[in-house]
Amino acid sequence: MKIFKSKSDLKKFLSEIKSKNKSIGFVPTMGALHKGHISLVNEAKDKNDITVVSIFVNPTQFDKKEDLEKYPQTLDNDIELLEEAECDVLFVPSVDEIYSDDISSERFDFDGLEHQMEGEFREGHFDGVGTIVKLLFEIITPTIAYFGKKDFQQLQIIKKMVEKFELPVKIKGMPIFREDDGLAMSSRNARLTKAHRKAAPFIFKTLKKARKKANKKEANEIVKWVEKQFAKHEFLELEYFIIADEKTLRSIENFNSRDKFRAFIAVFADKIRLIDNIAFKNKF
Ligand code: PAF
Repeated sequence: MKIFKSKSDLKKFLSEIKSKNKSIGFVPTMGALHKGHISLVNEAKDKNDITVVSIFVNPTQFDKKEDLEKYPQTLDNDIELLEEAECDVLFVPSVDEIYSDDISSERFDFDGLEHQMEGEFREGHFDGVGTIVKLLFEIITPTIAYFGKKDFQQLQIIKKMVEKFELPVKIKGMPIFREDDGLAMSSRNARLTKAHRKAAPFIFKTLKKARKKANKKEANEIVKWVEKQFAKHEFLELEYFIIADEKTLRSIENFNSRDKFRAFIAVFADKIRLIDNIAFKNKF
């Protein structure tokens, strides 16, 4: 695997690849890689001539300094996993290399997608994500870029950005990877205490029960039921649970249209914030 720290070196290398009409699969990450990331790498390898992974803990998408400072960094292990997966190229730029001396985000209008859920609770988060992903797309010029559906709102926002800026890249959303007990894989899971790790599968269990209830109950009743389950929980504190239209990400009260719905949840396990989501079967 070739490792680049400099964007100009990487650009030079990739322009030679492109000149041979080869396709580039791209997996952007913030490191602390797990099996979910590797599933994206495998898919990228399967569908493209070369696969590029980036590892960059992007400061502009963190709303809390502590979350940024404590974000797990496991570069040696990440390199080992990527070598095992036979990834072709790793891009690990420094903050200076990406932002020079202006660590700030561009302002985006994602037609309101950015104000829902994560946007409401993490100020400026999607401006930060949009800024870094657009920059990485400019450097890497991928044919297809891969994003996990655990961050479903992020996936929809990236698709919107590609559409609005007419970026020449295809976006592929990939299934959520879960631990055996159902907890969605996340780099943040490594920071959970033993007790919180033990409690965390309750999140997906509750999502599955909520989905089952959609046969008989309306969306607003299911929201109340989920809130009640967490109100009595010893280790997990609910930040939000909503059932929303997959396209607009706006919450719904009743299942009265033919659109696709998905339930979204954010939970605090002590100071660690965990998110997850589940597709609801369309009732029509
Ligand atoms: O999903 C992530 O890990 C990050 O938000 C991303 C897409 C790599 C941008 O920093």
